[in-house]
Amino acid sequence: MAIQRIGIVGCGLMGAGIAQCAAEAGFEVRVKEVEQAFLDKGLGRIQAAWDRAVAKGKLQDGQKAEYAQRLRGTLDLASLGDCDLVIEAVPERLDLKLATLADLDRTLGPSAMLCSNTSSLSLAQLGTALGPGRLPRLAGLHFFNPVPAMPLVEIVRALGTSEATVAALKEFVARLGKTAVLAPDAPGFVVNRLLVPYLLDAIRCAEQRLATVEDLDAAMKLGAGHPMGPLHLSDFIGLDTMASVADVFFEAFGEARFKAPALLRQLVAAGRLGRKSGSGFYRWEGDKRMEALPL
Ligand SMILES: NC(=O)c1ccc[n+]([C@@H]2O[C@H](COP(=O)([O-])OP(=O)(O)OC[C@H]3O[C@@H](n4cnc5c(N)ncnc54)[C@H](O)[C@@H]3O)[C@@H](O)[C@H]2O)c1
Repeated sequence: MAIQRIGIVGCGLMGAGIAQCAAEAGFEVRVKEVEQAFLDKGLGRIQAAWDRAVAKGKLQDGQKAEYAQRLRGTLDLASLGDCDLVIEAVPERLDLKLATLADLDRTLGPSAMLCSNTSSLSLAQLGTALGPGRLPRLAGLHFFNPVPAMPLVEIVRALGTSEATVAALKEFVARLGKTAVLAPDAPGFVVNRLLVPYLLDAIRCAEQRLATVEDLDAAMKLGAGHPMGPLHLSDFIGLDTMASVADVFFEAFGEARFKAPALLRQLVAAGRLGRKSGSGFYRWEGDKRMEALPL
């Protein structure tokens, strides 16, 4: 089934990024928010990104106008009623996602596909909000932050996702100019299942004084070609987020490599949460990483 109209629920960090990419790729996009102020903020961020691209000579004024014309904000879920594909990007709360999906199931036509951008919730559980007719058209579509810059999308098969849905989503992702990988409906999908234990291991190395914080980061950056070292990246993600993700993974898989290291818990207890609190493994001035702090 050819997708033309895209609906997005939530115009926050991820929803706005997905809306921007879909409008640029030629889709008609409707974004639904709960309050006009949030909608204005999200759409304003997209507009600012296009304005920057025009200022840098990467986008023509006419092209920008075309993108903007394809993108519409709304506070009314019924405006998404004729969409071929709706992606929910509301906050990561099970009750909120279930209510949003149930409302969408009632609002959309029978052939519409429904996707969730969830990072950690089970698609099987999200499917309980839907009628049986929708289940073949439910899947996870996991974008990465910042959406316009990150080329990967994980397509997560839910229980009962049809081959036709997977094929249509692969085509949609390709039209966005991104690459899709198929991922299982299990915590962390593919990327975080591999990335999280690596980051936790790096924290264990720092805990055991295998090398200094700066040297651990330099080693992986320069020796493995990673864009940033693991402790820098952990500060970026947020050490409290890292600790809660580790807890979810350890609970799900029971393997020691997913266990939050004592050092991570100590840093969180001390209020050193990474970039967002101004200190973690490093001191931060806004987005700028400063010197490593004592451990
Ligand atoms: N932030 C990330 O790095 C990242 C990466 C991948 C996936 N995700 C996932 O994407 C989803 C959204 O995360 P985010 O970081 O964009 O959150 P966010 O808080 O920036 O945005 C969520 C938006 O949803 C809106 N919203 C809440 N209820 C709504 C409703 N009923 N209808 C319409 N809009 C509603 C909120 O007003 C808010 O603007 C979550 O499931 C998250 O786990 C986030």
